Amino acid sequence: MVNIILLGPPGAGKGTQAKRLVDERQMVQLSTGDMLREARNSGTEMGRVVAAVMDRGDLVTDEIVIGLIAEKLDHAAAGGFIFDGFPRTLKQADALGDLLASKGQSLAAVVEMQVDDAALVARITGRFTCGNCGAVYHDHTHPTAKPGVCDACGSTNLKRRADDTEDALKVRLMEYYKKTSPLIGYYYAKDKLTSVDGLAEVGAVAAAIAKVLDRG
Ligand code: AP5
Repeated sequence: MVNIILLGPPGAGKGTQAKRLVDERQMVQLSTGDMLREARNSGTEMGRVVAAVMDRGDLVTDEIVIGLIAEKLDHAAAGGFIFDGFPRTLKQADALGDLLASKGQSLAAVVEMQVDDAALVARITGRFTCGNCGAVYHDHTHPTAKPGVCDACGSTNLKRRADDTEDALKVRLMEYYKKTSPLIGYYYAKDKLTSVDGLAEVGAVAAAIAKVLDRG
């Protein structure tokens, strides 16, 4: 079992690569962003609390997201877990280490996806996803073959995220640089970090990540 973290700013391509790994390697994607969006759509108390925070682009509290991940780790994943968008703070990183250790598991690698900020604006403002199967698209770089219809599942439920605006992106980026980017040094010091070029074409990024995974 190989557990990895995909680390990078909003729009770096974490979700895109995680979905490929799920298809190709039977790994399980644990995206705290997806879990929080699910909570808000289901109208739970927690969903109501986090909705405004997410739309502004701020981070949700450590306690909430650590709780979400802890629940998921109770179910084993034969192919390993892909942590997508978690951890995002040093406290979350420590908690993940403790949680994995308590299950007799460990982290194989942390893949930092390097991109430049200018590219992120174009990626985020052009993104849309399938509300049915979660496939990720882009207006210019990865449109659906048939307008308005998901290539993967045929659904017409294509959506844009409320936080995919230029204003919210500025807040999300600031949160990343202030609270999440220290994890690059944290995992480097633990000998877990590999950086890949997130600006490369999707297949080339996938190949770079595969190399990290196959290294064991
Ligand atoms: P979350 O859902 O995790 O969003 P994010 O980190 O901002 O990342 P994104 O999903 O926006 O981007 P991505 O890197 O997955 O890129 P994607 O593959 O879609 O978090 C949302 C919010 O939830 C946070 O702001 C926070 O409020 C809260 N939250 C979540 N986790 C939390 C935590 N742990 N602690 C506290 N709060 C938390 O790609 C983007 C676009 O680019 C797509 O259109 C895609 O087609 C395109 N693209 C991807 N790769 C390429 C490529 N190589 N070349 C060209 N285009 C590409």
